[in-house]
Amino acid sequence: MIDVDVATVRPAARLRGELRLPGDKSVSHRALMLATLAVGESRISGAGDGSDVRSTAGVMRALGASLEWITEDGRNVGYRIVSPGADGLRQPDGTLDCGNSGTSLRLIAGMLAGLPMTCVLDGDASLRRRPVARIIEPLRAMGAELHGRSDDTLPPLTVVGRAPLRAVDHTTVVPSAQVKSAVLLAGLRATGRTTIRERVATRDHTERMLRARCIPVERVDGPEGAVAWTVEGGRTVQALDTRIPGDVSAAAFWLVAGSIHPDAELTLRDVGVNPTRRAVIDLLRAMGADIEERPTTIDPDPDVGEPLADLTIRSSALRGIELGPAEVAGAIDEIPVLCLAAALADGSTTIRGAGELRHKESDRLEGIAAGLRALGGRIEVNGDDLVIHGVAGLVGAPTDSLDDHRLAMTFAIAGLVAEGRTTVGRPGSVDISYPGFFEDLERVRA
Ligand code: S3P
Repeated sequence: MIDVDVATVRPAARLRGELRLPGDKSVSHRALMLATLAVGESRISGAGDGSDVRSTAGVMRALGASLEWITEDGRNVGYRIVSPGADGLRQPDGTLDCGNSGTSLRLIAGMLAGLPMTCVLDGDASLRRRPVARIIEPLRAMGAELHGRSDDTLPPLTVVGRAPLRAVDHTTVVPSAQVKSAVLLAGLRATGRTTIRERVATRDHTERMLRARCIPVERVDGPEGAVAWTVEGGRTVQALDTRIPGDVSAAAFWLVAGSIHPDAELTLRDVGVNPTRRAVIDLLRAMGADIEERPTTIDPDPDVGEPLADLTIRSSALRGIELGPAEVAGAIDEIPVLCLAAALADGSTTIRGAGELRHKESDRLEGIAAGLRALGGRIEVNGDDLVIHGVAGLVGAPTDSLDDHRLAMTFAIAGLVAEGRTTVGRPGSVDISYPGFFEDLERVRA
């Protein structure tokens, strides 16, 4: 737990070591929710222990599931969940607190839409600025009643569930795995087949995890990367033990650190390399990064399992690249740290269609631009596009995370290579997804 207003990071002479990342945040949320929808016991090993996942755990408890930590040598290594299943969940006594977690709020709204109860989902000041119209619209079309603040655009969000729901055929307006997952979870409680269409494929953890729990989910590929997903309503989610992959979004910080540092060799163990999440690895390779990948799972079913790999990253000379909206959607959470890589690459990097970054835990377009400029980076923000002109080196300076975990970790990684002293304002935000981040930052200094 970081309990200071500012963290100081000094340059590292060398980076060496092996790291095990926290359990994937997206998969951890979903594993907790699906375990709550299933009757009986599910064990989740390697779940993320950040405050976002804890928010989901707290809501699942409030709905009537019993959750306890599985510990090993005093460390939390997973959850044991016993649930009465979707039909046995109870009306919670108070507001459901999603903390800082947009994934909790949006996916749980989908889960509640088909349950006959009234719930209010709320969270911290940042969560209250996150858009919710994108889930209100399809879930209303399915028959649930939803209301949000400010003309149904912002949380708190009230969900009055209806059972059964109507199946719909919905196309997402912006690429969003959260909206897709909310509709699929609601689709479980609908009569008939619910289809959700996306113009750009987003992370498919919900789909894989539903299949693993005996719910058929069909995928139909359309033109130019579009995908349609269909779920059959009225099926029961089966309890299942799950192993959570290492979080590739957390790995991204070390992939960039290892690439931009002149004397680095880092190994990351058992990282999730799901095709819909691995864009950051492939984009860094396209920039010239030296990333070695050794699969550690034995032939997972390509439609069900989550492939894992050990990744070794070594120093390299990076060059600028061009990213369009599809690449942005594929690396949505990794764009801030990719901007750091671009800031130190040879030539310019253009990132087009990154407007969604304005609606994350902070306005990440402005936040990353302010931090990188403070460190001597050259970055232009033109509407929803970014142009980053590579410079030879960064110079330590004060930066502000805006209480956003991904900005805090990006600026801390910059501090490993910037000349002099870098400070990161509000570093405690790393606890959202990666509570041991600053310990790992010290561990890799060789
Ligand atoms: C997530 C989806 C993405 C991502 C978020 C996690 C998920 O959000 O940014 O960190 O677990 O489904 P959007 O669906 O809003 O793009």
